[in-house]
Amino acid sequence: MTQTVLPTVELGTGGPLVGVQGLGCMGMSEFYGPTDTGEALATLDAALEAGVTLFDTADMYGSGRNEELIGPFVRANRDKVVLATKFSIMRDAENGALRGISNDPAYIRTAVDASLRRLGVDVIDLYYMHRRDPAVPLADSVGAMAELVRAGKVRHLGLSEVTGAELREAHAVHPITALQSEWSVFARDVERSAVPAAVELGVAFVPYSPLGRGFLTGAFQDANELSAEDYRRTHPRFTGDNATANGELLDPLRKIAAARGVTLAQVALAWVHQRAEVHGLAVVPIPGTRKRSRLAENAAAATLRLTAEELALMEPVAGRVAGNRYPDMSATSEARE
Ligand SMILES: NC(=O)c1ccc[n+]([C@@H]2O[C@H](COP(=O)([O-])OP(=O)(O)OC[C@H]3O[C@@H](n4cnc5c(N)ncnc54)[C@H](OP(=O)(O)O)[C@@H]3O)[C@@H](O)[C@H]2O)c1
Repeated sequence: MTQTVLPTVELGTGGPLVGVQGLGCMGMSEFYGPTDTGEALATLDAALEAGVTLFDTADMYGSGRNEELIGPFVRANRDKVVLATKFSIMRDAENGALRGISNDPAYIRTAVDASLRRLGVDVIDLYYMHRRDPAVPLADSVGAMAELVRAGKVRHLGLSEVTGAELREAHAVHPITALQSEWSVFARDVERSAVPAAVELGVAFVPYSPLGRGFLTGAFQDANELSAEDYRRTHPRFTGDNATANGELLDPLRKIAAARGVTLAQVALAWVHQRAEVHGLAVVPIPGTRKRSRLAENAAAATLRLTAEELALMEPVAGRVAGNRYPDMSATSEARE
């Protein structure tokens, strides 16, 4: 496949210029089956070559191992890489079990130092609150994040899985550069309040899981096909009758892919870019992959143009998806809308 070098876009008002597609690094350490460090490192290099500049990690991915994995790559390419990481989902140091969510200012100050240490850098380009803890006033948490900007530890602020109202409230405390939430052909709840608020405030949108955690690519039809440790085995959309019903929803994507000579993954990614355009929103999806072989394919999707008829075929899909986005929806923006 011919290599496409990605066009660039400003990541939110006053934000850095980045390739219009980023790279999700999460699966390189955990969650989506076996990992291969050598291939992961080669994938980071290949992504940069393809024009990807926004690299996405979080302190909880692999309980810190994902930040450690990408650290040397980031340091070797510090002037080109826009480094995004996140705090708030706490894990047990011994066994990695989830311990809850913290938005506490004192916790944020500790978390940023730990991330900087694991990454081996002086400054994080984009620091996200990964999940909202409604027990802590948002102004206190964003105030603590703003202090990190003033201290030179962080350049820009981001939020993940917040509602439109929360985004407005946070933005009034300190400019928010990017909102990262799930957005795909299969997950469109963000279009209710978060997307309109982002448009209004000039906040960029970073859609995570734009490939529906791989399901939209047709790579698997049912969670039973996945390896024993794969997190998706517990996912409501990929198990039992839901998986069968949701598999049928891919028919329009299959039809478009066959007619255009492209892959399902490319149709799914092109949909996200064009859906954001309809809203008038700067968007930088972060498809996740552990493999070099996916990069050219995914990069080419950023410039694939779907027709109005093709987009119309996919319009009803999200409304028909069976099952929730998470086994436990309590920490999502949907739960607080
Ligand atoms: N803020 C949050 O709460 C949150 C939540 C989830 C994820 N994220 C971030 O968003 C990133 C992306 O989301 P995600 O990884 O959950 O889901 P995704 O990007 O929708 O899908 C990733 C899956 O698709 C597969 N894949 C990628 N390109 C493919 C292609 N061209 N053809 C076939 N399969 C392909 C990957 O497998 P291979 O590795 O085998 O290619 C992986 O299993 C993550 O890496 C993470 O950085 C953030």
